[in-house]
Amino acid sequence: MSTGTLIWLTGLSGAGKTTITQALAPRLTALGHKVEILDGDAVRETLSKGLGFSKEDRDTNIKRIGFVANLLAKHGITVLVSAISPYRDARREVLLEAAKNGVKALEVFVDAPLDVVSARDVKGLYKKAIAGEIKHFTGVSDPYEAPLEPDVHIRTDQKTLEQSVDAILERL
Ligand code: ADX
Repeated sequence: MSTGTLIWLTGLSGAGKTTITQALAPRLTALGHKVEILDGDAVRETLSKGLGFSKEDRDTNIKRIGFVANLLAKHGITVLVSAISPYRDARREVLLEAAKNGVKALEVFVDAPLDVVSARDVKGLYKKAIAGEIKHFTGVSDPYEAPLEPDVHIRTDQKTLEQSVDAILERL
């Protein structure tokens, strides 16, 4: 069986990671890929239930997602990960593991400026974070380390969803 692919979407909450993943999955399926999605919000209800948002807990979350993603990708699955994954080192570790396994890995930076994501505020969390009701909120009161050399860099405030999906497909 041929090895799979890992497509890792990182970016602020509300930048569009989940939306892109949901649109990308059926396109890949139509191309013959077997696709699985690991989404931060869903993972935190199951595999990472009980973890918080300290650096330590976020790194644990990313390690767990990376572990599962790599197991799947090793066996031919195309794995789409959508997680803020704010720390460069944690992302690098997962991507290095993929390379060791011969898995093709893409780091996709889903990028929109803070004023745009906080204006969108799909989940109403930025309002609370800015008011200080949620502590350690990524981009507001907690760090986000942007990728220095992402394989794909998507400005979701400047591109349509279709253009964003195409940009990833072009790099595969
Ligand atoms: S990560 O940092 O560990 O990669 P993950 O992607 O799993 O984060 O979860 C992020 C989601 O958790 C956000 O989209 C948001 O809905 C929710 N959330 C709750 N508290 C925080 C916080 N302090 N910082 C960021 N996201 C938070």
